[in-house]
Amino acid sequence: MIILAVESSCDETAVALVRDGREVLADCIASQVALHREYGGVVPEIASRKHIEAIYALADEALERAGLTRADIDAVAVTYAPGLIGAVLVGVNFAKAAAYALDVPIIPVHHLKGHIAANYLAYPELEPPFLCLVVSGGHTMIVDVKDYTDLEILGSTRDDAAGECFDKVARVLGMPYPGGAALDRAAQSGDDTKYPMPMAKLSGNPLDMSFSGLKTATLNLIHNCEQREEEIDIPSLCASFARAVSETLVPRTMSALRARGYQKLAIAGGVAANSRIRADFERETQKLGVTLYAPPLSLCGDNGAMIGSQGYYEYLAGNLAGQDLNAYATKSILGEQM
Ligand code: KG4
Ligand code: ZN
Repeated sequence: MIILAVESSCDETAVALVRDGREVLADCIASQVALHREYGGVVPEIASRKHIEAIYALADEALERAGLTRADIDAVAVTYAPGLIGAVLVGVNFAKAAAYALDVPIIPVHHLKGHIAANYLAYPELEPPFLCLVVSGGHTMIVDVKDYTDLEILGSTRDDAAGECFDKVARVLGMPYPGGAALDRAAQSGDDTKYPMPMAKLSGNPLDMSFSGLKTATLNLIHNCEQREEEIDIPSLCASFARAVSETLVPRTMSALRARGYQKLAIAGGVAANSRIRADFERETQKLGVTLYAPPLSLCGDNGAMIGSQGYYEYLAGNLAGQDLNAYATKSILGEQM
């Protein structure tokens, strides 16, 4: 089954063609990052407009790259939530029009389920159940992937997402948007013990996380140094910050993994590209003798192929939509309106 997959929830317009949920036939991405960079973040109106401009040509390009024609498309999968509402609507409307014209089903896909499914593309042998840490610009959660479409959230951030904090700290350090990757690079040559960072202790669910205190403390540290005209050791600050994020994510994920008794741990989302987090997970999973699934960097960030992969499993589960499909800015990974 060949699925045309569409993703437009933030600042990447992406169209892919995926066979049977596992084989990427084409994966085309038009990134708007350079456009938003001068504003220091995504401007929703610009994002929507650019998605409209890019999406039709991108779909043709995907077909051409895959050596396919429109008649080869069996279904259209699309990110319908969550994201910038105007941006998501562009993809949803395109998908509805394409599905209508081709007379094929529409498959609505939750963006975060798509991130998890990036692992199915990177690792053809991976099948649920497994545990997955989803860390992106907007979300941070530990998910029990019981089956392709049956998930349970075991813990999540109570405030900011990890990616949001990476971007904010990077921005204040003068790094271009989105700063996560630049901060990661800067941290390579730093001393991660130089700047002690606060680690939030929460009552209630021990798998829940909090990043806003860490973010504020880091921003205050930078501003105080600037006011006192003290020089900041930027690589060490980045390394100390990345360590604190990793030491929030990794022990909780490992403890959830032990509690569930799974032998497989996957990571997903843009922040899963972070080298400190990946290295810490590699060490910890080796210690425990379990397998780590960490997709290549190209599949961690937003892409269309991951939507095509999850779309296939949603299709098999009968989760289809009609022409009345709507887009949602917020919706839980379990499909509940928030
Ligand atoms: O999953 P994603 O592409 O989009 C969302 O669904 O949000 O994640 C984007 C986030 C941004 O915050 C970006 O700065 C962060 O992923 N990111 C990183 C790295 N690469 C991307 N954060 C830390 N280290 C990286 N190497
Ligand atoms: Zn994403």
